[in-house]
Amino acid sequence: MERLAVRCACAVRARGAWGRAVHTHASVPKPYYVTTPIFYVNAEPHMGHLHSCVLADVLARYAQLRRDGWSTEGSGTVQPLFTTGTDEHGMKIQRVAESQQVTPQALCDRVSERFRDLTRTAHLSCTRFIRTTESEHAVAVQHFWRHLQAQGHIYLGEHEGWYAVSDEAFYPPSQVRSVQRGDETVHESIESGQRVEWTREINYKFRLSHFREALIEWLTQCPDAIQPRSMHERVLAEIRAGLSDLSISRLRQRLYWGIPVPDDEAHTMYVWVDALVNYLTSLGYPAAACPPGWPADVHVVGKDIVRFHAIYWPALLMAAGLPPPRTIVAHAHWTVNKAKMSKSKGNSVNPFEAIDTYGLDTIRYYLMRIGGNIGTDADYAPVLLEEHKRKYLQGQLGNLLSRILAPKIQARLAPDTGALVQPAWTDAEAPLLAALAALPATFDRHMEQLELSKAIQAAFHALALANELVQHTAPWAADAQPDAIHRCVFLAMECLRVCGTLLTPVMPDAMTAMLDTLQVPATQRTWASLAERPRALPLRTQRDKIPPLFPR
Ligand code: ME8
Ligand code: MG
Repeated sequence: MERLAVRCACAVRARGAWGRAVHTHASVPKPYYVTTPIFYVNAEPHMGHLHSCVLADVLARYAQLRRDGWSTEGSGTVQPLFTTGTDEHGMKIQRVAESQQVTPQALCDRVSERFRDLTRTAHLSCTRFIRTTESEHAVAVQHFWRHLQAQGHIYLGEHEGWYAVSDEAFYPPSQVRSVQRGDETVHESIESGQRVEWTREINYKFRLSHFREALIEWLTQCPDAIQPRSMHERVLAEIRAGLSDLSISRLRQRLYWGIPVPDDEAHTMYVWVDALVNYLTSLGYPAAACPPGWPADVHVVGKDIVRFHAIYWPALLMAAGLPPPRTIVAHAHWTVNKAKMSKSKGNSVNPFEAIDTYGLDTIRYYLMRIGGNIGTDADYAPVLLEEHKRKYLQGQLGNLLSRILAPKIQARLAPDTGALVQPAWTDAEAPLLAALAALPATFDRHMEQLELSKAIQAAFHALALANELVQHTAPWAADAQPDAIHRCVFLAMECLRVCGTLLTPVMPDAMTAMLDTLQVPATQRTWASLAERPRALPLRTQRDKIPPLFPR
C-alpha cells in the first residue's frame, strides 16, 4: 500500500511540473494544486507570510498561463486550486489568548480576519481560505485519525521530552542547549532558538519509525521532491539517521484548545496533525478518499517547517493510503539586520503599510526578485526596494512603454491604416529577436526549478535589450529613418507583450494594465502566442497621456 502510493505520485510528477499530460481519470486532467502554510493567529501577518502567499500565487497564476488552451471537453478549462488560511489551535494560541485575557475563539476570529484581509489586499488568486476552527475541518481531521487508528498506526504510549510551545515541536536532547538568561538557566532549541520545556505524559503516538524505509524510497525515487536540492539532501540524511515515533496528542486538562481525539475525551490532538490535514480538508476530504486535486503539486513552506511537511506529513499520508505531495518548496527567510523576521522577535515589517507606501506590484516584484532565490536569506531593505522600483520597474518597463507609445512617435508610423505591419528585420534587431525567441523556454525552466528570481531576471534581460534598441534608434530624433522607427517600435511592443505576459503572474495589475494599453487581444496573451511575432500590431490612436505603470 505505502509503496504503491509513492510510485503513483512520482510517475505523475515525471510528466511535467505544470501537469500538461497529467490525467487522474481517462480524460479529466488533475487541477494544479498549490498551498501556503496556514499561519498561526498569535500575531498579525508580516512580510514573511506575504512572501509565501505571493510565491504560491505566482505559481498558481503561472500554471494557468502555462496550461492555456488546456480544457476538458465541453466543461471549460481546469482552474488551478490555491489554498491558504490560518492555523488556530494548540498550546501557543491557548497561551496567547490567556495572556491577552480573551477567549481563544475571539483571538482567532480577530487575527484570522487580518490574514484574510491580506489575501484581498495582495490580490491573491486563492480559491479557498481555510480556518482550522471550521467544523468541516474537525470532521476531516477526526476521519483521518480514525483511518490511521484502524490501520494500526496509532498506539497509546508514554512520552517524555523537550517541547517548544512557540514552534509547537518536540526536540530530541541532542537538539537542545542550556543558556543563561540573567540568573536563570533555561533550555532552548538549537535549531529555532525557542525556549523548550520538559513534558512527560501518556500520549497517543504515531508509528513514524515504520515509515523510514518508505520515506527513503520516496525521496530517492523523486530527487526533486524537496526544493532546493540541499534541503532534499538534509531531509534524507535526517530520515536515514533514524526516526522515533511521534507523540500526537496532549492531555485535555493541559491543552483544551484543539480537536478532541475521537472516542477519547481525555486527549486533544497535536496541533501539527490537525494543521497538516488542512491540505486535504480544502479539497473536500473525506467526502472523497483521495480528493480531486490531490496530490498537491507544490506545498510552499518556509525552511523553518520543513520537517513537518517533508517527514511527518508524507508519513501520515502514506499511513492513510494517500500519495505524498509532488513538491515541497522550502524558501529561505526574510531577515531584518540579519535576524529572522518573526512575530515573536517583534522585528516584523507590516505588509499592509508596505503595499500602501510602494504599491502592490512593486512589493510583489521585490519579494519574488530578491527573496525568490529559494536557498538564500534576504535582508529586507527599503533602499534596495526603492532602487529596484526606480531602475527596473519605472526605468525599464514603464519608461519603455511610454516612450514607444508617445503620440509623437506613433504619429510617425502608418497612421492611415492604424496597424503596424511586421517589418523585414535587419541586423540591428537580431539580438533582441533572438532573446525573445529564447525567453519563454528560459523563463519556464527557471519556473520549473522554482527559481522565480532567475525567471524575472531573464525577462528583464530582454527588456534591457529593447531599451538599448530604442536608445540606439532614437525614434524621437528629427533625422530618425521611418523604417528604423517602424522596426524598433514593433519589436519593442513585442518585447513588452512577451515580457508582460510572462510577468503577469508576478505583477498582475500593472502587467494587465500594460497589455491593455498595448491593445493586446486575449488570444495574444497566451503561452502558445509567445512563440511567434504577429503579422501586425495595433497603433495607439488616443492622444491622451499613458498613466504611469508604477506611480511614485
Ligand atoms: O509555522 N521569511 O505558522 P507560522 C519568510 N502554523 N517567510 C516567513 C518568515 C520569514 N521571516 N516568517 C514566517 C506555522 N514565514 C504553522 C504552519 S502549515 C500546515 C502550519 C512564513 O505563522 C513561512 O512560510 O509560524 C513560514 O514557514 C511560515 O510563515 C510560518 O508561519
Ligand atoms: Mg513560526
